[in-house]
Amino acid sequence: MCGIIGYIGEDNALPFLLEGLEKMEYRGYDSSGISVMSENKIKTYKKCGRLEALKNTLASENTLVSSIGIGHTRWATHGKPSDINSHPHVSQSGKISVVHNGIIENYISLKNFLVEKGYKFISDTDTEVVAQLIDFHYDGDLLKAVQKTVSDLEGSYALGIICSDEPDKIIAVKKDSPLIIGTNYGENKDKSENYIASDIMALLLRTRKIYRLQENNIAVIKKNSIVVYTPEEKILNPEKDFELANWDIESSGKGNYEHFMMKEIMEQPEVISKTLTSKIKNGEISFEHLNISDEYLKNISKIYIVACGSAANAGLVGRYIIEKLLKIPVEVELASEFRYKEPLVDKTTLVIVISQSGETADSLAALREAKKQGAKILSIVNVRGSSIANESDYVIYTSAGPEIAVATTKAYSCQLCIIYIFSLFLADKLNIMDSSDMSKYINKLASLSDKIQEILLKKEQIMEIAKKYKDNKYAFFIGRTLDYAVCMEGSLKLKEVSYIHSEAYAAGELKHGPISLIENGTLVIALLTQDKLFDKMVSNLREVKARGAKIFAVTTIDHKEKISQIADDIFYIPNSLSEFSPSLSVIPFQIFSYYSALLRNCDIDKPRNLAKSVTVE
Ligand code: G6P
Repeated sequence: MCGIIGYIGEDNALPFLLEGLEKMEYRGYDSSGISVMSENKIKTYKKCGRLEALKNTLASENTLVSSIGIGHTRWATHGKPSDINSHPHVSQSGKISVVHNGIIENYISLKNFLVEKGYKFISDTDTEVVAQLIDFHYDGDLLKAVQKTVSDLEGSYALGIICSDEPDKIIAVKKDSPLIIGTNYGENKDKSENYIASDIMALLLRTRKIYRLQENNIAVIKKNSIVVYTPEEKILNPEKDFELANWDIESSGKGNYEHFMMKEIMEQPEVISKTLTSKIKNGEISFEHLNISDEYLKNISKIYIVACGSAANAGLVGRYIIEKLLKIPVEVELASEFRYKEPLVDKTTLVIVISQSGETADSLAALREAKKQGAKILSIVNVRGSSIANESDYVIYTSAGPEIAVATTKAYSCQLCIIYIFSLFLADKLNIMDSSDMSKYINKLASLSDKIQEILLKKEQIMEIAKKYKDNKYAFFIGRTLDYAVCMEGSLKLKEVSYIHSEAYAAGELKHGPISLIENGTLVIALLTQDKLFDKMVSNLREVKARGAKIFAVTTIDHKEKISQIADDIFYIPNSLSEFSPSLSVIPFQIFSYYSALLRNCDIDKPRNLAKSVTVE
């Protein structure tokens, strides 16, 4: 979603701003813009559409040089995507320019107030209110004006602000939306320059040395100083809280791949192996920094898994695993539902929040709600120091590295691995698994990477299958239990990247409605990895076959004889323990989605209307 970038230093801000915006394109956006300072005036350029449009506008401005600037990629919430609604928004006086990520919930009443005071508005956005309100409060002290403004604001907001009367500073504000500050480091360390961004990816071009602005704090950033103010006006010196990001610029590139999605699919053996080796040492599971007491673990009476999108689909797999291995009841809730449903949680409930970005607004709100009700929060997060990680009682990081394609692949796979390992860890703490079973599970986990590699080597087979079905208008994914959970993810992947409408159904449920949609040529994608349910699945496949469906089955080679009698296309995955089969069976679905999108000329890494990090409700 919206991305903020800012620069203050000795060089020209413009190249950095544009590169930073480019690095944040993956977050999802529909317009972009920048404000810089030229001859003591703010100059703003903004364009609807891809970043290219903004770059084209700026191409003729070759005399534009400014050592301060802010930029933004917008994902429309208030007002359609248009040049005028794009950020930055500049106050009527032309003095204040603002970029914003989040939603100002009380913007209508603030707008009415400002209109009464004579302010005229030109956009439909909530953000323009912030620029005008700062202008209204401004009497020669930008910091004070910003402090007064934020005390009037309700909602979520990360802000980058510049003022033509105070060209030596950017002011940054953070509430419920991500914002980090970077400082010169390494090769750049002789320069006096500082940066702001929504996202580490935008800063890696210049620095890995970052400071995470904390909730409700305001930072005054000059080229050679950063001072942070708390809401109580306490002044913090962030120097000791700077950290070195563990991602580098190379890992954020496409390498030799045409798309990030394929690069990330192919990285799965490596990141899974990293995730496993970081938690399993000498055949023993260890969560070194978790600090979770055995006494607490023994008293867990119920587990909620709360997440959005693919992370929630990983949770569906988690439910089967945890209930099977630990016999603890698990509920999986979409975060957007959980936060409003008055969930039944208490201090014996463990709430597991799963999130790649660690910034998803609904997941964060659900976490806060659960905490308020007394539950402990364990989060499974990919981005270090993100809001969800910060606010959890316990955090387990996945080792997926930067994930750029909007449709997640490797982060989902790492989330599954963490769920497996954490379940085994808990089984051990609760003394409910004997050591031979434990070793069996750990050995099987260790073989997952190689088995995924085996599947990846056969990706062209899946491409051929995708070619046959690329013009289908819709598809059904069916499976039972764990296979059904993976079908949910397969179906989401296919629809989000290829725009083929698809639905996942528990195979036994087909007869209760969806079978009425099956006609000649309807694509049914079936997953059959659970041996004891294989024959039941075959019966379901016969029902759809009898009605003209084309069947693409994913199963293991042991079932070759039976499945070849009924399926039109088959892809075999290696055998594994049924509990860990999701890590293997999801891979052909990712590849099928990728090739379907490629063959349909879709924008694979940035599907229309989608955002990587959904920071608004
Ligand atoms: C967006 C992304 C999905 C992701 C979901 C949850 O919809 O496109 O890939 O699964 O958000 O994001 P999170 O960062 O919380 O995992």
